[in-house]
Amino acid sequence: MKMKSVFFSIASVVLLVSSSALISSCTKEGPAGPAGKDGIDGEDATATCVQCHDFSDDLLTKNFQYGNSVHASGHNIDRNSEGCSQCHTSQGFRMLVDSGVMAAVASPAPINCRTCHKIHETYTPADYALRTTAPVTMIMGGPEATYDYGTSNLCANCHQGRPVNPYPVQGGAPVTLTAANARFGPHHGTQANMMLGEGAYEIPGSLPYSNSPHTNAVTKGCVTCHMEGNPMGIVAGGHQMGLTYISYGAPAKLLSGCTVSGCHTDAAAIKSAFEENRTEIMGLYAQLEEELKTLGWINPNTGLVVPGTYTQDQLGIIFNQKFIEADYSNGAHNYRYTRALLKNSLEALAVQGKARS
Ligand code: HEC
Ligand code: HEC
Ligand code: HEC
Ligand code: HEC
Ligand code: HEC
Repeated sequence: MKMKSVFFSIASVVLLVSSSALISSCTKEGPAGPAGKDGIDGEDATATCVQCHDFSDDLLTKNFQYGNSVHASGHNIDRNSEGCSQCHTSQGFRMLVDSGVMAAVASPAPINCRTCHKIHETYTPADYALRTTAPVTMIMGGPEATYDYGTSNLCANCHQGRPVNPYPVQGGAPVTLTAANARFGPHHGTQANMMLGEGAYEIPGSLPYSNSPHTNAVTKGCVTCHMEGNPMGIVAGGHQMGLTYISYGAPAKLLSGCTVSGCHTDAAAIKSAFEENRTEIMGLYAQLEEELKTLGWINPNTGLVVPGTYTQDQLGIIFNQKFIEADYSNGAHNYRYTRALLKNSLEALAVQGKARS
């Protein structure tokens, strides 16, 4: 009852505003004509509203899941300046998608339903359409790197590496990093690049740079694995979108997405394969990070890059460590590519003299 009266009052405000606009646009008024016939009753203004705002738990469930997500946390919406706002604020993203503009956002809203869906544009269920599903040309990795995985193209706009300067180039001259380059790397969130297997420094080594079957077989990318399995309450999956949650005090993984589209059928087998690959990748990654710290290329306390002159291969190895760290999937997004980057980077460190040029 209470909700309904809110809707009615919104509808009457809309009616009032539009009818007064009509009246004020007339310039001269003649004498009033005779009263016309009663019109047919108009459509109930709330008829379309209730197709979404109904008594079921559907919308509410998504609200709860979403409310418990990192997106909704609002932790990083102070990153609202030009160059950050398009990925960190709702208005910044909509500006970029709707008009290709990147600008600071003065009063930022966290990423919310309206950021990704066209909520309240027509006040019909069609407003659940996604704001964009266009393929995304990656910022990093050259023009051949295009992310095109259905509805998850939306995610790839933000979950990709940012422009990197200096970007490591094989065969290039050594470069000097200063304190201003301490945050050298692709930024947080290289998931779309990792899924494609594009954009890292493909240093030569014993392993070829191939992609895991996920790159070709998972047609909706992020959405298939992160949203389409059965959610775990409001702590993982669905519109919470994360796959890591805490179960009885210990971190757990939601793997229901692995079996949704019939890709994997045996839940126990996929869990053990996942654990096995994950342990291997985490081990290799820890080794690489440790070596870079021991070499003094990465600050052991802050994780930032230590100023100095680096060959392109050395810069590339540091870049790979940052690229893999920022993917946060421990190989799940592209096991073969991740493993090749790690193994070949470690080999290169061992073989080609650790001395800085
Ligand atoms: C496409 C489905 C959809 C339709 C149709 C729809 N809404 Fe909404 N509405 C939403 C969603 C999603 C939210 C955001 C929920 C949230 O953030 O808690 C929302 C939020 C609201 C809110 C809370 C304030 C706000 O703006 O966040 C009001 C009030 C509201 N809607 C009224 C209406 C009215 C009135 C209509 C019809 C004229 C309508 N809605 C039609 C989906 C819809
Ligand atoms: C291309 C999109 C994009 C741009 C542009 C961008 N970010 Fe981010 N940023 C992300 C994503 C995605 C994450 C979350 C990654 C994750 O947790 O998987 C993130 C995370 C962060 C974090 C949190 C890191 C953490 O460890 O929790 C900070 C801080 C941050 N960004 C700062 C900035 C600043 C400052 C700028 C502008 C100079 C910026 N970002 C520009 C996409 C972007
Ligand atoms: C970060 C982007 C994002 C945000 C924020 C978001 N959604 Fe979604 N939503 C999606 C994607 C992606 C899908 C799945 C599209 C598909 O079917 O592949 C989806 C699907 C849906 C659907 C099913 C639509 C249909 O046509 O069947 C509903 C309903 C929905 N979202 C409601 C919400 C509500 C309510 C909120 C806010 C609490 C919200 N979404 C926030 C990305 C988002
Ligand atoms: C508008 C940009 C944007 C879009 C679109 C977007 N994200 Fe995010 N995502 C972010 C940012 C920024 C963060 C980090 C937020 C923070 O730290 O406050 C994040 C965080 C996350 C996290 C939590 C990471 C963690 O550290 O635990 C997951 C999971 C995630 N996003 C998945 C998705 C998926 C799946 C989609 C597509 C359905 C998507 N995102 C669409 C910008 C975006
Ligand atoms: C093949 C399934 C799959 C696809 C496709 C996929 N992910 Fe993941 N993702 C995972 C798994 C499994 C993990 C957990 C890995 C771990 O913690 O060891 C994960 C972890 C993450 C995390 C770290 C936070 C968390 O929830 O654990 C983020 C953020 C993330 N993925 C975002 C994305 C984005 C964005 C995309 C699309 C560009 C994507 N993922 C595509 C399976 C997938």
